[in-house]
Amino acid sequence: MARRKIVAGNWKMNKTPSEAKALCEELIPLVKSDDVDVVFCVPAIDIPAAVEAVKGTNICIGAENLYFEDKGAYTGEISADMLLDAGVKFVIIGHSERREYFAETDETVNKKVKKAIEKGLTPIICCGESLTQRKQGIYLDWIRMQIKIAFQDVAAADAAKTVIAYEPIWAIGTGETATDDQAEEVCKAIRDCICEIYDQATAEAIRIQYGGSVNAGNAASLFSKPDIDGGLVGGASLKADFGKIVNYK
Ligand code: PGA
Repeated sequence: MARRKIVAGNWKMNKTPSEAKALCEELIPLVKSDDVDVVFCVPAIDIPAAVEAVKGTNICIGAENLYFEDKGAYTGEISADMLLDAGVKFVIIGHSERREYFAETDETVNKKVKKAIEKGLTPIICCGESLTQRKQGIYLDWIRMQIKIAFQDVAAADAAKTVIAYEPIWAIGTGETATDDQAEEVCKAIRDCICEIYDQATAEAIRIQYGGSVNAGNAASLFSKPDIDGGLVGGASLKADFGKIVNYK
C-alpha cells in the first residue's frame, strides 16, 4: 500500500499567540488536501490558539519538543500529558537545533520517543549530518547510529506509526537544499536501517520526510522520490508558500 504523504511545518521560535492565530487563518484555505497529512508544529505557548484556529480543518497541531518525564520538578519543561490535553497530535523530537543549543543527545531523543509513543503522540524523529560529516563520507554511518539509538526498545508496531525527518544540518535555513538524489539516498538508507532493526513491513509503513530548505519550487521533485514521504518545512511554513508545498502535485 502506498504511504500517505505528510507535510509538517516547523515554526521554530516564531509567532506570538495572536500572530499564530492569524497565520493559521491565512493558511487554512491554502493547505486543504485530501491526500496529504498536514501538521503545523508551533511554539508551546501558541498551541491553544493554533488548536482553536484549526478546529474542523484537515490540519493537526504538533509541538516542537516535549520532556520525557511525566511530571515533577523540571522547571520550564512540558510533558506529553500537557500536550495531549491541549489537543496536540504530533511532536518533533531531536531537531538539530535542540541537539546543538539545548544539549539533546541520541539517548534523550530515545527517551522522548518512547514517552511520546507511550502517551499516544506521534513523534517526528529528526536525524541528519553536518557538512563535515558529509565531507568525511561518514554521513550514512552517523545517521544509522542516530536511528538505531532513537528506536532502542521501541516495538515494531509502534515504530511503524512514527515519522522520521531526515534533515542535513547544512541544508537547514541555508537555502541550500539537498539534491533529490542526495535526499533519496539517505531516506532509502534510513528505510533499510529500519528494515534491519525490525522487518520489511515496518520499513514499508514508516514515513520518512526530507527537511532542509524545502520550498514551493523544489517540493514536487523531492516528494516524487520513492523513499521521501513528504517534508519537514521551516522557513517556508510561515508563509503562503506552505500551501504550494502541501499541494505540490
Ligand atoms: P528550513 O528548516 O526549511 O528553514 O531549512 C527546516 C527545519 O529546520 O525543520
